[in-house]
Amino acid sequence: MADPIRVGIAGAGFAARFHLHNLRRVYGVPIVVAGVTSRSPQTREAFARENSVAAFDSFEALCDAADVLDLCSPPSTHETLAVEALRRGKHIIVEKPFTGFFGAGAEGFRGNSSPKEPMLRHAIESCRRIVEAAHASGKTICYAENWVYAPAIQKEREIVTKSGAQILWMMGNQSHSGSHSPYYGQWRFSGGGSLVGKGCHPLSAALYLKRAEGSARNGSPIRPATVSARTHEITRLPQYRDEGHLRRGYQDIEDYGQMHVTFSDGTIADIFSSELVMGGVSNWLEVMGNNHRTRCQLNPIDALTTFNPKDDAFREVYVTEKIETKQGWSHPAPDEAWQHGYPQEFQDFMESIVAGREPMAGAELARDTMATIYSAYVSAERGGAETEIPS
Ligand SMILES: NC(=O)c1ccc[n+]([C@@H]2O[C@H](COP(=O)([O-])OP(=O)(O)OC[C@H]3O[C@@H](n4cnc5c(N)ncnc54)[C@H](O)[C@@H]3O)[C@@H](O)[C@H]2O)c1
Repeated sequence: MADPIRVGIAGAGFAARFHLHNLRRVYGVPIVVAGVTSRSPQTREAFARENSVAAFDSFEALCDAADVLDLCSPPSTHETLAVEALRRGKHIIVEKPFTGFFGAGAEGFRGNSSPKEPMLRHAIESCRRIVEAAHASGKTICYAENWVYAPAIQKEREIVTKSGAQILWMMGNQSHSGSHSPYYGQWRFSGGGSLVGKGCHPLSAALYLKRAEGSARNGSPIRPATVSARTHEITRLPQYRDEGHLRRGYQDIEDYGQMHVTFSDGTIADIFSSELVMGGVSNWLEVMGNNHRTRCQLNPIDALTTFNPKDDAFREVYVTEKIETKQGWSHPAPDEAWQHGYPQEFQDFMESIVAGREPMAGAELARDTMATIYSAYVSAERGGAETEIPS
């Protein structure tokens, strides 16, 4: 039997927890979680204790003990950690956003009022540096975009590729009532707001489906060509009337973003993302094809609907991500990780590493997602003008 693949996790917060849980669902490929590191000794030790894994006090020490580094740290750390791991001959898994622009981490940096062209150039260069480090080391980049692996998106890929469909127009959304991470809300850590933090998910899924369509029909992916975008800061409007249901207090990011993408074949996608939506996470992508129409519903789904007359009765019951109340009718997720594509994602990552092949969500998709989002910021700065996406 082959030696198990040793996976080290960087970060001990929200993403690290669901990564660990879903790594442990991988079958047929022996893996072992080598341990965890994070910036804070208290959180990494608590995480290590709770999950029976080792705690490492530096990223370098974790690299020495692992074959794959799984980056669940804030976006501003991704490039440095990814390049360091690849330089040390390790494969990498990188959470979304793949990388970005963070104003060199300076305390007084305000992303919303900083020029966006240099951000776009920097984000693309950052992607290039990670990809070059992977080429130099011959190791694999896994882009942890779970939407690619969500069963609803994979079924639509099958429909598109087997029926020879042309996708004409897609409309997608990820929104909820506000991210919990203390790093989110400050551009110097998150690299942007709703577009980067949430819009990346339906955008990557849309880019993935057009890639699949092009590859099936002509042997080469159809890629994004231009974007027109708007961003807004609704919870920071002087007129905003706070009723306490939405997170607020973002420093310099948008809490609403909209992207209209055109592809190289002239077809289109409209992507929405915001921190303004109650009722739990709202994740969906609708596909209008020349021979079919599909609604990919990631969350909520109707596998289960339940009525609970008293909120407190469901205190210990997990219902669905970011739901504000469990009272009344709700849609408890029977297996939310599965419907979001997490176990399938880690299965593909581990199999691709063993086989030495590209994962379904790899560096090209990650790079096109970054190029589209930062071109969207350039467009929004110009009041929504159509902006070319560097190829
Ligand atoms: N795919 C998804 O559905 C999803 C969901 C949530 C978050 N994310 C992504 O996961 C990443 C982490 O987000 P989160 O919500 O877990 O944040 P978090 O704030 O809950 O956790 C971040 C962790 O990173 C650690 N950290 C900070 N700097 C570090 C460094 N230099 N080296 C190692 N560890 C460091 C912190 O100590 C903390 O433990 C982000 O890129 C985020 O966008 C993805």
